[in-house]
Amino acid sequence: MQVFITGGTGLIGSAVVAELLGNGHTVLALARSDASATAVETAGGKVIRGDLADLDALRAGAADADGVIHLAFANDFSGPAALAAAVAEEGAALAAMGEELTGTGRPFVTCSGTPYAPGRASTEADPVPTEGPVGGRGRSVVAVLDLATRGVRSAAVRLPRTVHNQGRGGFAGLLAGMARRNGVSGYPGDGTQRWPAVHALDAAVLFRLVLENAPAGTAWHAVADEGDAVRDIAAVIGRRLGLPVEAVPQESFGVLGPIFATDQPASSAHTRQALGWEPSHPSLLEDLENIQP
Ligand SMILES: NC(=O)c1ccc[n+]([C@@H]2O[C@H](COP(=O)([O-])OP(=O)(O)OC[C@H]3O[C@@H](n4cnc5c(N)ncnc54)[C@H](OP(=O)(O)O)[C@@H]3O)[C@@H](O)[C@H]2O)c1
Repeated sequence: MQVFITGGTGLIGSAVVAELLGNGHTVLALARSDASATAVETAGGKVIRGDLADLDALRAGAADADGVIHLAFANDFSGPAALAAAVAEEGAALAAMGEELTGTGRPFVTCSGTPYAPGRASTEADPVPTEGPVGGRGRSVVAVLDLATRGVRSAAVRLPRTVHNQGRGGFAGLLAGMARRNGVSGYPGDGTQRWPAVHALDAAVLFRLVLENAPAGTAWHAVADEGDAVRDIAAVIGRRLGLPVEAVPQESFGVLGPIFATDQPASSAHTRQALGWEPSHPSLLEDLENIQP
């Protein structure tokens, strides 16, 4: 397939591009800068110049492809307004690509976070949240999945809190960044809350399997580690950086504080069984050993 991808230069997207190219697909990637365009071409893909706000570029990419994978997101957690703007931009981008794909029967794979299910690991059958700071992202994903009734083979890959590669990425990466800035490897609450994780190279395989095989309107969990206690994550970060490991107030984590404080393990039993996906790369706690002081 020729696959149009947004976010193909990111931590996850660059792994997805390599996975697609290594398995007989061609890649057309959105690139918003010369550096991103060069990265795509060096990897072996073709480029459409533009950003998520450039709806004509997105429509052209979707029209020129046999399938679409969406991963771009501004990831601006600096405050509620910046986050809301990023969520709105993504929603408009998804709607534009969805319109272009309507009636084609082509795959349209988007991403979201794994949902939260109080007291247990969430499953593929649980709904994604459509309220709260990132609820708008959930509503966008629901709208994409609803395109299944309009001739689109839409699907969602739900990503755990940390998608990592070489010790970087996701919530654990944010914790490491804060530890470097603050001189303390901090965690909210008592640190027993669990976050799920996956290696980016394993997540990339699942994106390909979903693109190739998932029925319309389905959601999948790219979860390798069901849940690591946040205190254990902070402990590896502190040891690697030579910093003390301490509980810090939830407010220190800004707009993400309530999410960071929540116990939110997730299962991928259905995904593994139905799609034959089996993660094989290092776990988060192993990969964090790659952090350099
Ligand atoms: N990593 C995780 O742990 C994790 C966990 C859950 C969900 N996710 C979600 O997975 C997706 C990919 O995450 P990631 O970790 O790979 O992110 P990342 O490394 O920050 O990469 C973001 C990608 O999106 C592109 N991008 C950002 N804003 C854009 C815009 N306005 N227009 C066009 N392209 C734009 C970037 O392009 P440039 O190269 O030009 O900057 C880059 O390719 C995101 O939706 C993220 O929220 C990630």
